[in-house]
Amino acid sequence: MSKTASRIVSEARNLVAFSGAGLSAESGVPTFRDATTGGLWKRHDPTKLASPQGFARDPQLVVEWYAHRRRAIAQAVPNPAHRALAARDDILNITQNVDDLLERAGAQALVRLHGTLAADRCDSGCGYRESIDLADPPSLRSCPRCGDHLRPDVVWFGETLPANVWEAAESACRRCDVLLIIGTSAAVHPAAGLIGLAKASGAQLIVINTQPSEASELADIELLGNASALVPEVLD
Ligand code: OAD
Repeated sequence: MSKTASRIVSEARNLVAFSGAGLSAESGVPTFRDATTGGLWKRHDPTKLASPQGFARDPQLVVEWYAHRRRAIAQAVPNPAHRALAARDDILNITQNVDDLLERAGAQALVRLHGTLAADRCDSGCGYRESIDLADPPSLRSCPRCGDHLRPDVVWFGETLPANVWEAAESACRRCDVLLIIGTSAAVHPAAGLIGLAKASGAQLIVINTQPSEASELADIELLGNASALVPEVLD
């Protein structure tokens, strides 16, 4: 089965990779809903920590929680799946992940659907944004431009994805002939909708995941196993 997947990938004219937390799991970055490892949302209430309401209610708690996640990401290193994806300059990486492991692996063409923890932005939308050191994350502080709070440059529950980012992802999934879906439960929209869009546009879908997901029924090929083993095999 993975040989067939490798052949399909080698013959692809326009290859897009769509990734989720499972891509970074073997680097030690927790997933969100993983039944086997008790992901983040099994231990924390996302509406309290990853939402505008949660930040408005207790910005200090939210920033401290993200500081903990940022330090964990700083400790993580790209795994063979990140490196295999980054080594292919013909692949556009669309990722739901907010870690910087694909960048650190050297990936150039990247669409970050849910933003990045490697930066903060002004909560008021004045446009101020600055990169931060994941190993030494900032505490709660004010925007130097308008005085409102700075918050992680990620998309929270209830927030819309940046229009330009969504358009880039939609356009890529309409045009690709192979979509490699890696390490995602495909449970969160609108991101997960890109899978159906690629399928409807005629793409072949190859899913790599440790367990069946909401992408399984659309998959032309589903490879169940670890991304760090299967992604290099399929891209080889
Ligand atoms: P999930 O935690 O929902 O799903 C991770 C998937 O990866 C699961 O299906 C696991 O089976 C699989 N997995 C775990 N370890 C793996 C490994 N080593 N190799 C391959 N697969 C593995 O995470 P996402 O699908 O990324 O959104 O979640 C999507 C979004 O929901 C996230 O971007 C985040 C979350 O709320 C926002 O923060 C807006």
